[in-house]
Amino acid sequence: MSYLKSVEFFDGSWESDKSDLIVVGIYRDKSFTEMATKISNSHENVFKDAVSNGDITGKVGDHNIFYAGGKRILLVGLGQKKKFDSEKMRLVAGEVSKLAKEKEILSLTVEAFSNDAELNMALGEGLVLGSYHFTGYADKKKKEFQISTVAIAGSYQKDAILVGASNAIAVCYARDLGNHPANIATPSKLEASAREIASSSGMNIKVMEREEFTEIGMGGLAGVAQGTDEPPKFIVIEHMNGGDEKPKVLVGKGLTFDSGGISIKPAAKMDEMKYDMCGAALVLGVFKGLSLLNPKINVVGIIPSTENLSGSKAYKPGDVLTAYNGKTIEVLNTDAEGRLILADGLSYASKHYDPEYILDFATLTGAVLVALGHIATGVMGTNKELLNRVFEASEKTVEKVWELPLWPEYCKQIKSDIADVKNMGAPMQAGTIAAGAFLKEFVDEEIPWVHFDIAGTAWGAKPNSITPKGSATGWGVRLVLEMLTN
Ligand code: BES
Ligand code: MN
Ligand code: ZN
Repeated sequence: MSYLKSVEFFDGSWESDKSDLIVVGIYRDKSFTEMATKISNSHENVFKDAVSNGDITGKVGDHNIFYAGGKRILLVGLGQKKKFDSEKMRLVAGEVSKLAKEKEILSLTVEAFSNDAELNMALGEGLVLGSYHFTGYADKKKKEFQISTVAIAGSYQKDAILVGASNAIAVCYARDLGNHPANIATPSKLEASAREIASSSGMNIKVMEREEFTEIGMGGLAGVAQGTDEPPKFIVIEHMNGGDEKPKVLVGKGLTFDSGGISIKPAAKMDEMKYDMCGAALVLGVFKGLSLLNPKINVVGIIPSTENLSGSKAYKPGDVLTAYNGKTIEVLNTDAEGRLILADGLSYASKHYDPEYILDFATLTGAVLVALGHIATGVMGTNKELLNRVFEASEKTVEKVWELPLWPEYCKQIKSDIADVKNMGAPMQAGTIAAGAFLKEFVDEEIPWVHFDIAGTAWGAKPNSITPKGSATGWGVRLVLEMLTN
């Protein structure tokens, strides 16, 4: 969770500030920010020796603590003034709240460093993200420290900061869902989370149980869920605050544990397959964000959710399933299960809504990790304009995406001899694209659609001040909120 309780604002002079720490900045050329200049001028160059001796350099995130006028002051490096952009702001702000947590500082006053809306938003995001920690299950004697308030000082745009903080809370929400182990983060837990979000803000919610979704023809989800006694769910949540505009539909893979099924995975690192519901966590994170800010738009979230296990009832290689849109699927590998449950999610979105667009999110293929590592999400789509909107949002939030082609040559690879499609392409070749090509079969052609393969980015990214080590990242929550609201 985010260990920062509230973001507030302070309009007085630094001398009248009552917080436990005042945070001001220094650039790479050793020039000070406005508030740092004031402190330095009125207190005989309190920073001077430290700067000239190189105790503080002005490099991004570099910092040192000083005392002046009875106050405790953190001077933090902002890098080169010309290059101080929103990502640097995020990283610096993250550094500040990490330090406050470590040193158990209850209240801080942080200079805004800029009054640009984008940078202000990044400040709100960084402060909250830097305070994130997954509250695990160890019997900790000491309670985790929580920062009580960060007050922003200087000149700033209040709304932008608050939107940033709110969106980051949504990211933390997605991270927590991802980090819980599979015996806790079950499909029922995803349902409970969706219900909690919906009831906190008057959203609609509908959840179908095994019997009901099987009955109406969701053969993909029903097939994968055959192998588990943990109740599977088909969750639909609606934020309908935009009058009669067409809804934007988000579909997330909620596979709460992926053993591979009968085509079982190797034992090493199988524990990581608890993260196989990070697509669903992303969608729920976005809905958490919507519940906090209540924007005037229509958004639908669809989450097919189950475990993928083996056992006497489990579906088998060679089985043929019929998806919700009537297409038949030959199952050649039970470990390619994500696309089967998404087939029903995408068909449902196409049939029951008239979407402006559909985005889907899934930890879908190991191949995307081979292609792009933990650095970028693989995206594929049918509509250039929508893809461009994804690229724009991605540049803004610095959550990287890279397009892979859905050329006809690839799309042919998932044709089956005995069914409409098969759930694998050519073995060991273009696995991420084959999965995208498969999903394309379940989206109505007129509906703009983009698929996000987040198998590399949803967890395990290189840690920094706003990205926790070796755990769920909440990747994409900010990108999607950016797309939806701008
Ligand atoms: N959940 C996995 C994808 C995955 C693998 C995510 C490793 C993160 C790390 C997915 O269900 C899967 O098993 N995909 C198979 C597909 C193959 C059998 C066609 C894969 O990528 O190996
Ligand atoms: Mn799998
Ligand atoms: Zn999976």
